Amino acid sequence: MAQDLLALGDLTVTVREAGKEKTLLDNVSLKMAALGITALVGGSGSGKTTTGLAILRLLPPGLIIRQGRVLFLGEDLLGVSTERIRDIRGKDIAMIFQEPLHAFNPVFSIGYQIEEVLQVHSRLNLRQRRERVLELLDMVGLPDPKRTAGSYPHQLSGGMRQRAMIAQAMAGDPKLIIADEPTSNLDVTLQARIMELFRRLKDKFNLSILLITHDLGMVARMADQVAVMKEGKVVEEGATKQVLGNPRHEYTRALMAASGLSRE
Ligand SMILES: Nc1ncnc2c1ncn2[C@@H]1O[C@H](COP(=O)(O)OP(=O)(O)OP(=O)(O)O)[C@@H](O)[C@H]1O
Ligand SMILES: [Mg+2]
Repeated sequence: MAQDLLALGDLTVTVREAGKEKTLLDNVSLKMAALGITALVGGSGSGKTTTGLAILRLLPPGLIIRQGRVLFLGEDLLGVSTERIRDIRGKDIAMIFQEPLHAFNPVFSIGYQIEEVLQVHSRLNLRQRRERVLELLDMVGLPDPKRTAGSYPHQLSGGMRQRAMIAQAMAGDPKLIIADEPTSNLDVTLQARIMELFRRLKDKFNLSILLITHDLGMVARMADQVAVMKEGKVVEEGATKQVLGNPRHEYTRALMAASGLSRE
């Protein structure tokens, strides 16, 4: 049997608030096969971002992983050393963040920030790294890589910045990209183009994508597998066709109705 790329088991995350312990993730279990797009979908506050951050041990201070496993190709990321998880971040698993704060640093050029990833995760020399940055920017469909590399984040349009973030995510040649609402700030046409780019990169580079979204329409168009989250729990999981074709959980039906996907 093929090994799962990623398997979360009973992942439980809590936070202490006003003297009380609040559960943000409640025994989240989820399996992801290699070479596909798996969507994590749910309403605001359901725990999607928390799940993505917990996988890479990037939870903000105060949030505690109480129990669980995060098996990446069989290795439990919750048990590995700090050096090992740092090595995995940005290399085996890259994350595209929802929070603009986590995205590009405003004071450095785009090219420099992509080159930094190569400096950490590759053996390329400076000249090779600079060449690779241009290749990466070209690969994600940015028309003038040299100019983009020299630009600062605020000088790019939202769509271009998103492409540059994908180029940065691709710099470590990852097996898995966790993309947290990668298109929610873009208009519909740009959304479609960015999703098309993800699909092309996935096929070309044997990537898998964990797509975090609240948009079931996008799930229907993009994802092979889907897990539906509500209040910190996975309430339904399976092949997208099966889950959306025959939703078993009331919450999935409600989400579908809200996205205009159901005929009810
Ligand atoms: N740093 C924090 N301190 C306390 N509570 C937090 C913190 N971060 C997240 N939470 C809580 O955890 C829950 C899950 O939040 P999370 O950001 O994972 O949801 P989400 O599904 O990504 O929502 P959205 O669609 O709005 O991005 C929410 O109730 C949120 O208030
Ligand atoms: Mg979120």
